Amino acid sequence: MVVPADCALHEAIQVSPLILSDDVRRQKIENHTAKMRLSVATVRKIQDVFISEVNKGIHQQPSSLQMENTYIPELLDRTEEGLYLALDLGGTNFRVVLLELAHGAPIRQEVKKYHIGSELRIGSAIPLFDFLAKCVSDFVIARGLQDVELPLGFTFSFPMIQHSLDVAVLVTWTKTFNCPDAVNKDVVKLLREALDRRADTKVKVVAVLNDTTGTLVQGSTLDPNVAIGLILGTGSNACYLERADRVEHWETERHGEKEVIIDIEWGAFGDNGVLDFIKTDFDRENDANSLIVNSFTFEKYISGKYLGEVVRVILARLTKEGLLFVGETTLHSLLTPGTLTTDLVSKIEQDSVDGGNSNTKEVIKKFGIIPDEDDIRVVQYVCEVASNRAALLVSICLAGLLDRIDKEQVAIAVDGSLYKHHPRLENWMKRYISLLTSGRQFKLILAEDGSGKGAALVAAIAQRLQERLQ
Ligand code: GLC
Repeated sequence: MVVPADCALHEAIQVSPLILSDDVRRQKIENHTAKMRLSVATVRKIQDVFISEVNKGIHQQPSSLQMENTYIPELLDRTEEGLYLALDLGGTNFRVVLLELAHGAPIRQEVKKYHIGSELRIGSAIPLFDFLAKCVSDFVIARGLQDVELPLGFTFSFPMIQHSLDVAVLVTWTKTFNCPDAVNKDVVKLLREALDRRADTKVKVVAVLNDTTGTLVQGSTLDPNVAIGLILGTGSNACYLERADRVEHWETERHGEKEVIIDIEWGAFGDNGVLDFIKTDFDRENDANSLIVNSFTFEKYISGKYLGEVVRVILARLTKEGLLFVGETTLHSLLTPGTLTTDLVSKIEQDSVDGGNSNTKEVIKKFGIIPDEDDIRVVQYVCEVASNRAALLVSICLAGLLDRIDKEQVAIAVDGSLYKHHPRLENWMKRYISLLTSGRQFKLILAEDGSGKGAALVAAIAQRLQERLQ
């Protein structure tokens, strides 16, 4: 039976029609990309699978969702005062942040960005952590704070198993990092040891967290209804406030906590095969071209590190099939993995919003190709199809979380380069989430710099929790 909600959803998830001068070519292109467009039935199936994986993960049963306990049972209570540091590793930049708090609100912030070269990102753990410690020391000493005891929140945006608020074992690297000897090690210990080797500051690592957690906590200073933190950037992941009595993995002593932040690690959703029914040949190729293959299935469908590559793989396939850039000979760049970055997809998508094509032409010309009008339409169509699928997939999971969180109003704190720079994701997501949730009220709010500022706020919360236990 077709329910009205499904009709509305069916309408909403349609992409703009592809209009080409040659109808046979149009048909062939639509056929090639058909599996990228999810039907309502498939959307509902993904929704069920997500909810089932969430339940399994939280009950410690085998699941592709880690549902990690962050051991952060409460947000700011406005008593937090003083200076806090944050270290943010795993996003586009590596940053050190100093935050001064008065009554739980930031009154001063200083940030410094550092570049981590690929020889450190892909190598062994000690040089990487020594570099992190050096940046912390330089930052602290430059501000004359070397003799001040500074609590530090360490944002480590990779999957980790948390044993407590300040013990976290790396499960696997993702995105652009791969230092194999850090896997299975406690990253807080690695950082503390590196700071101890220098012994030139009084920095004290009090908490380790994920960027989604930082975003949730930072978002809660902007809107008290924040209960979900979302990152849609290089990688993608979300966390949310879960009822403490539902959480089975809890290694420390409980103190009557009512809620706790759970880091879902949804980038790995489907790594156990539960999402194979949506995997296309394009996704297989995208995975094969990635740094760590056969992992982070969901992230490879949606995040900034991969969306451009998904588009490139489709365009390359259409070109090889003689359906795009016919007669072009300078195809080397388009056929090379990694050449079409996600910011270029956002740029092309801007044309679709404006009804123009100058950005699209500019991007295609960068590949040494002179496009005709039909080529431009195909490229725009492919960018829309891939972006729209990402928006839909993220919305399915967010709607599932909204239904799980028993609150009248929920604000979702979002950060990440893809969300900020893609011209259509936010609007699509608003529409899709409202059609997919069973009537929950929600808002998407931008919580910039959650991974930096949020980590310093978490350090303040951690300090408060520790003092309470003493
Ligand atoms: C990757 C990491 C996850 C992080 C996300 C966003 O998925 O595994 O921990 O939250 O990227 O940066």
